[in-house]
Amino acid sequence: MSKKNINFVCTNCTYQTQKWMGRCPECEQWNSFTEEIESTGKIAARRLNIEDQKNEARELANFSEDLNESLKVQTGIAEFDRVLGGGVTKSSFVLIGGEPGIGKSTLLLMTAGKIVDVTSDKLLYISGEESGHQVNQRAQRLKIDAKNIHFLNDCSIEKIKNTLTKLRPKFLIVDSIQTIFSEDIDAPPGTVTQIREVTYQLMSISKQNAITTFVVGHVTKEGNIAGPKMLEHMVDCVIYFEGDSLNNYRFLRCIKNRFGSTNEVGIFQMTEDGLEEVPNPSKVFLVESIESGHGRSLTCLLEGTRPLIVETQALVVENKYGNGRRTTQGLELNRLNLLIAIIEKYFKMPVSYSDIYVNVVGGLKLTGRDSDLSIIASLVSSFLSRPILERTIFLGEVGLTGEVRSVQFPELRAKEIALMNYKKMICSTQAAKKLIGHFDLEIIGIKNAIEIRDIIS
Ligand code: TYD
Ligand code: MG
Repeated sequence: MSKKNINFVCTNCTYQTQKWMGRCPECEQWNSFTEEIESTGKIAARRLNIEDQKNEARELANFSEDLNESLKVQTGIAEFDRVLGGGVTKSSFVLIGGEPGIGKSTLLLMTAGKIVDVTSDKLLYISGEESGHQVNQRAQRLKIDAKNIHFLNDCSIEKIKNTLTKLRPKFLIVDSIQTIFSEDIDAPPGTVTQIREVTYQLMSISKQNAITTFVVGHVTKEGNIAGPKMLEHMVDCVIYFEGDSLNNYRFLRCIKNRFGSTNEVGIFQMTEDGLEEVPNPSKVFLVESIESGHGRSLTCLLEGTRPLIVETQALVVENKYGNGRRTTQGLELNRLNLLIAIIEKYFKMPVSYSDIYVNVVGGLKLTGRDSDLSIIASLVSSFLSRPILERTIFLGEVGLTGEVRSVQFPELRAKEIALMNYKKMICSTQAAKKLIGHFDLEIIGIKNAIEIRDIIS
């Protein structure tokens, strides 16, 4: 007879201990232990058996009969397909994480509608969070034809397995993995043991029956998918749906893909009619109404392989009462401090006593350093109260001595800049040498950031 053990399990790395601990000795995470009741042996010994009937060692080349399983299916949502590497791979297991209310359920319902429309295959949608009535109402509002979408509001894995055997769908959507549980395990849904067990079971049944599966995963306070980290190791693709509560843009980012690259980003806008794709993002991250002004300049980022023209804004105001305040949105404070130090030292402008605010339009987050030159230009323009020439793009990383360095893929960006009808580009001398003469643009190469003082009229 199996004996029940009470264990404490680290939710980060699944390290197990008999006693509660404040810090995990394995992964050194604080406060990560939760109590788990586990029947010994049976579950720990269970392995993911993808190819149950034919799980003998064979020569790799003999697995060619499985080739047709690796074909891609278009989801019908181009931005989603882009992130998945040209469509979802048949029989793959895709995990989608994101903050509450970001639009995970909306995205998957829209995907469900499109997939059944394009393939005419059956799809099972399991929701542990919303009733059939709620999901149907949303489907109607989003004008999704619910034919061929079958709905189940039962979270027991045993019931789900029965339904899958009876219905034999080609696609499965589970919203969310934290609500699914196995009746054999004496622990509440969402605990490490439950998540690990139901994911194993879901994965083996999907792989054995060639079902393409999308699973929603909740995220923790820190923004990681809740449950064992192992969850992300097990699945084929991990995608995060991100956005800013202040604006309606949503970014779909792939962080793991067994069937393609991970550097593509899908961009959506949340509207009253659901998620709309943003196929031409360069246009939307600019404030259109203001033609010229102080403290604003443009740069060109790369999101995945797509160039994106973005506006950075700065406001530098005198502070009469003490230490200057610095506030940033979309930019790390440390990076702003560094750029301010460069201005202070080489431009000989006493900016550090001022209150300084920097903002990236559209809620974008600048993670690379390719926008350094643009941020410096916005800061200097605001400090001097002088506008920057219209339709000018600043492109370059700035080093500690003020030297301007090239960015990655300057040709790709210059092409987009010319296409969007911008007239002038300021970049490193090295990049300028490469680009001059190839684009319908006035390209000015500068060695040191200080040279932009002459460009700001
Ligand atoms: P939802 O998909 O339920 O988010 P998640 O599953 O990630 O928690 O999306 C919820 C939000 O999206 C909700 O706050 C309202 C907004 N929304 C719209 O603005 N328009 C729409 O058409 C839909 C369906 C949702
Ligand atoms: Mg939801």
